Amino acid sequence: MKAIEQLKNEHEGIKIVFRILRKMCDSLKSDQSLDTDHFESILEFFQIFVDKCHHGKEEDLLFPAMIQAGIPEQGPIEAMLTEHTTGRGHIKTISQTFDRFKSGDTAAAAPLAHECEQYITLMLDHIYKENNILYPMGESRFIKETDDQLYLDFETLEQERIGTGKHEEFHEMINQLTDIYIE
Ligand SMILES: [Fe+2]
Ligand SMILES: [Fe+2]
Repeated sequence: MKAIEQLKNEHEGIKIVFRILRKMCDSLKSDQSLDTDHFESILEFFQIFVDKCHHGKEEDLLFPAMIQAGIPEQGPIEAMLTEHTTGRGHIKTISQTFDRFKSGDTAAAAPLAHECEQYITLMLDHIYKENNILYPMGESRFIKETDDQLYLDFETLEQERIGTGKHEEFHEMINQLTDIYIE
């Protein structure tokens, strides 16, 4: 199932960014220090790649295809949609708290780290449930034609929502920040 495989690969990329962000949170908590350019890149990754692109593929294409394949809307799909909404709330708060920090309010450092950690916890659990509960339900029901069509539609959505070259730019950003924060 290449469409679902693509979403799983995206989850792995998102998890690497969480490892980087955890390091940033450690610095924020220990001495209120943060490279604001690096943080802005990660915030953009959450807003554009995670929310518009990855969650867009799930909400607008995968979940409807699953409902079409007979998986009830109430249950895991509904639960995943609720978590997307909760995640959007965290991103909004992270963005607002980051603005405070950036304008010189060092008292915003701890709340910013806390909000990021809340988002990471939510999303890691969300990703685990998709990988291990929801996606296998699709994998066991989709026929090859559904998978092929989803894969094509994912490409179109990605072009429309994030544009040509942006995916590669995010990859490059993740590689650079991994070198700085993890290795
Ligand atoms: Fe999701
Ligand atoms: Fe996902």
